Amino acid sequence: MSVMNGNHNSSKMEPFGHGGDILTASSFFGINSQDWLDYSANINPLGPPKQVMEALREGISAIVNYPDPAHRQLKQMIADKLSVHVNQLLIGNGAAECMALALLGLEIEKVGVVAPCFSEYAQLAQDFGAEVVTVVGREENGFNANPDDLHVLLEQVDLLFLGHPNNPTGLTYSLEQLREIANRAELTSTYLVLDEAFIDFIPQEQRVTLLPELKSYPHVILIHSMTKFYAIPGLRLGYAVAAPELIQKMGRKQVTWSVNGMALLAGQACLQPEVAAYETETRELISRERSYLITEITKRLGWQVWSGEANFLLIRLSAPWTASKLQQALGPKAVMVRSCAMYEGLTERDIRIAVRDREDNERILQAFEEVDRDKGER
Ligand SMILES: Cc1ncc(COP(=O)(O)O)c(C=O)c1O
Repeated sequence: MSVMNGNHNSSKMEPFGHGGDILTASSFFGINSQDWLDYSANINPLGPPKQVMEALREGISAIVNYPDPAHRQLKQMIADKLSVHVNQLLIGNGAAECMALALLGLEIEKVGVVAPCFSEYAQLAQDFGAEVVTVVGREENGFNANPDDLHVLLEQVDLLFLGHPNNPTGLTYSLEQLREIANRAELTSTYLVLDEAFIDFIPQEQRVTLLPELKSYPHVILIHSMTKFYAIPGLRLGYAVAAPELIQKMGRKQVTWSVNGMALLAGQACLQPEVAAYETETRELISRERSYLITEITKRLGWQVWSGEANFLLIRLSAPWTASKLQQALGPKAVMVRSCAMYEGLTERDIRIAVRDREDNERILQAFEEVDRDKGER
């Protein structure tokens, strides 16, 4: 267990600690921003549902009006979909804002994280002056935390962030494990934020979530993103589900109108029943292509792959590759992957790639093979 108080960890290609930074990559390699094959951000390769594009086209004239500061329409639609009450919901400018509002609204002073995990958990906590306590997940345990370490951590902190599925490992806990962690959190009065930003990519029948039993866990906050699954990261939209008292406290810290009108419109369009076909197609594509990438990477390159359940894969490159060397080799080919070297608990040989459609996947596999073949000549 370690206490963090240092600076933001960053690399040349990820100066802000995240993938998808096309501007940095473009200036680094002198490549046009629209020419990149971006495997460093995990966005639905189908793009936004056509209902979203239509709603935006038709609704663009509404930018002359202020958005609804109470997000009433979208909130009601999400409440109906999830079978929760509207007062259990907070709409945010991305899942990231919901995380920030949890830290601010609940006046958190000590935050727990299980590394490797989404860097923003610790970053936000530090930015808001909270102390960060890190437990490192064991590799042989699929990077999930040892239950005893988690119990100690829950006693030490006011709020624990858990990615579910976790980024960059894609791993989830079983329902029994989740219940056990949530019960512990109730015992220690620790807020437990389950970040479900990628959960929509998992088919409903395989999805592990505390949503149906949330009323039993007044300290649990579920955070959901709509930017990845519906491919609208530039619009920003997410929400939190929790007990009404927590939602109220979080909402009080939100800047009025922080969720813009176009994001609200897009969110409403995503919840139309006709979008169900797109959702099914996405899950089938991700499941099929994830298996394909795992098989082909193992067979063609011999790299170690952690499958996980999300729309990305954690990969350990074989020597002499490092993540940074691979990025340098792929850059001139306009291919971006995410280095995982800066994640606590991972190594300089680790990368994360998105799962995309077959055409793109063939392109990245070919790029991997080409640079791997040339590696002796670099
Ligand atoms: C695990 C995780 N949670 C949340 C987010 C942020 O989601 P949003 O775009 O909805 O703010 C990210 C973005 O990369 C993420 O990886």
